[in-house]
Amino acid sequence: MDAPSTPPPVEIGAATAPRRTAPAAAVTTAAATTTTTTKRGAEASESAGKDAGAVVPAKGTRAPAVRLPAAAATAPRKTASPKELRELARRQEAERKAALYRCVDRAAWTRNAADPAEPARARRDVLVASTLKLADGTRVALDLCGGADLDKAEREELMGVVRGNMRAVCEASAWGWNENKKLRELCDADARVIRARDAASGALAALAHVRFLVESEEPTLYVYEFQVAPAFARRGLGRRLMTVVEMTARATDMAFVKLTVLLNNRAARDFYAALRFERDPDSPLHEMRDPERDGVHDILSKDVRLRSE
Ligand SMILES: CC(C)(COP(=O)(O)OP(=O)(O)OC[C@H]1O[C@@H](n2cnc3c(N)ncnc32)[C@H](O)[C@@H]1OP(=O)(O)O)[C@@H](O)C(=O)NCCC(=O)NCCS
Repeated sequence: MDAPSTPPPVEIGAATAPRRTAPAAAVTTAAATTTTTTKRGAEASESAGKDAGAVVPAKGTRAPAVRLPAAAATAPRKTASPKELRELARRQEAERKAALYRCVDRAAWTRNAADPAEPARARRDVLVASTLKLADGTRVALDLCGGADLDKAEREELMGVVRGNMRAVCEASAWGWNENKKLRELCDADARVIRARDAASGALAALAHVRFLVESEEPTLYVYEFQVAPAFARRGLGRRLMTVVEMTARATDMAFVKLTVLLNNRAARDFYAALRFERDPDSPLHEMRDPERDGVHDILSKDVRLRSE
């Protein structure tokens, strides 16, 4: 049933991999566990403040990603009363928010149990590539599935990589390791999992657990887990898979890719710095005088909107 709907044979290889960048100065780490806003909840994330050392966009400086289509059509008459103007502003705000949630719901392909073609359609429409080619010639096949659709064996396979990579890092942080919580997150109805398998052996090489959310009133692809199996580390797979994540975000009209990283996860911080992620305005570290000493995690993000210039 899936055959006609499998993703187009798009391959991202060395030729299309993003330009390498010199390892940037320290940025942040990542344990993909996060307590951010959900697409339904949308409670504004806290934090703000300034960090003298970091290059960070000031809070509130982002242009809104979702705009009303025709501002002119709803422009007020010159004679509008203050009450009418307030009502107009309220309606415009409600329309803007509705557009924002429509955008996220569309991207998340809200599962429709009555439509058996839905997951296949999502794989076709959402995932932007079906194969990655590493510099050493290894081919890695991608697929996308909903967290709620994973069976027991698939969950255990994914959790095996997560556990192997993250348990010690989490245990060494103030967060600790909570396997049940990780598993619940992975199987959540909102979870979307991109799996990368060695095309030759079928071995799980990497995974990205992502969610389409409204974060700080922006359509956001939040990366909950980003894991490369040890046998595939430092071979360029993480960089290529994150390119797929970013392209997926762009293709689904998300404005930002965002993630959480543990400060003691030095390798991941270096990885995200190399990929030009920056400290997000919502990072708790902005409020700390000595983030490296007092902080546990950071929030990083990348603006993936296409620019006309
Ligand atoms: C961090 C991780 C995702 C990187 O994936 P990867 O496939 O090994 O990374 P790549 O080979 O694509 O590396 C891309 C760049 O990131 C940087 N980088 C990657 N791993 C690094 C490390 N261990 N130390 C320093 N820099 C590193 C380098 O600049 C590298 O470019 P280079 O190879 O030209 O030097 C992977 O090692 C991993 O899964 N780690 C354990 C799980 C984890 O911490 N996940 C993130 C939690 S949110």
